[in-house]
Amino acid sequence: MDLVKPTIGHHCGNATPCQVIIHFIITYQSQQMSDQDCIKFLQSCLPQLGYQWTGFHRVRKQVCKRIQKRLVTLNLPNCSHYYSYLEQNAEEWKILDSFCYITISRFYRDRKVFEILQHKILPSLAQNAFKENRAEIRSWSAGCCSGEEPYTLQILWHLDLLPKISKRLQLQLVATEQRSDLISRAKRGQYPKSSLKDLPKTFREEAFIQSESKYILKNYFKTDVRFFKQDIRQQLPDGSFDLILCRNLVFTYFQQDLQLKLLEKFIKKLRPNGFFVLGANESLTPNEDVLEPYLDLVGKSIYKKKQILA
Ligand SMILES: C[S@@+](CC[C@H](N)C(=O)[O-])C[C@H]1O[C@@H](n2cnc3c(N)ncnc32)[C@H](O)[C@@H]1O
Repeated sequence: MDLVKPTIGHHCGNATPCQVIIHFIITYQSQQMSDQDCIKFLQSCLPQLGYQWTGFHRVRKQVCKRIQKRLVTLNLPNCSHYYSYLEQNAEEWKILDSFCYITISRFYRDRKVFEILQHKILPSLAQNAFKENRAEIRSWSAGCCSGEEPYTLQILWHLDLLPKISKRLQLQLVATEQRSDLISRAKRGQYPKSSLKDLPKTFREEAFIQSESKYILKNYFKTDVRFFKQDIRQQLPDGSFDLILCRNLVFTYFQQDLQLKLLEKFIKKLRPNGFFVLGANESLTPNEDVLEPYLDLVGKSIYKKKQILA
């Protein structure tokens, strides 16, 4: 039985289901790559996509699994063959790029950061807006995954901040993400319990309706969040912002020159006295002429843009 040499498509046409399964098993086993092979491959390819290896080493397993599957689909025996394939097929880089996403997120992820947002930053932005006679605060969540981060801000806003201030003030949120499946999930607003494990119980009970194993976000918290499919390397949302969150994306996974280019753009988009929030394990190289670290409770992951004096 010649199970390994012909292509999968050829087999599906002629073989019995049992032969097809055996073919997949044999092919898959013959194309198993070791962790070491995958590391070497990623270290050589990631820079060409604008990513840095240091961001990926801890999360490589899921990326390697996707590459492994791709080897099977292309019927290639190992990563060096895949590398040659990439050299001959420029379009394949886009496919490899699409394997390099990490989609870990949760509501109220990094409790301390969200406590500072709740008790310090949102109240300070509200004060600024009142002084300037504005009816809204604008915020941007970059790489928003399935909406966990922007919706957490809306929950804090509606359940904690608004009841404390007597005036009307809107928190408008723009949330950008490169994957349309995640945007669709964000718009549905239904989450497993694990996504809510860090969210304080009172917020969870007030903001969600539980239905069997799902938690459904009440519409009320969705109305001021607008989602856009955007690749941050190519496109940024319009306008300027009082608060920008770019957590666990650019400053973990992207290469330094790309980080610097994007940082300049973030600074331009941030209003004076606005805040820039990174992931709890991320920080910026000193740039204190424009951005100063805000409080030191959470490493150097929150920055405030200085008021530029004329
Ligand atoms: C690790 S998650 C972080 C999610 C959230 N910011 C947080 O910290 O909980 C990174 C997110 O950025 C998205 N992403 C990756 N590359 C992107 C790009 N070039 N442009 C926009 N979003 C991107 C991923 O799909 C993923 O949803």
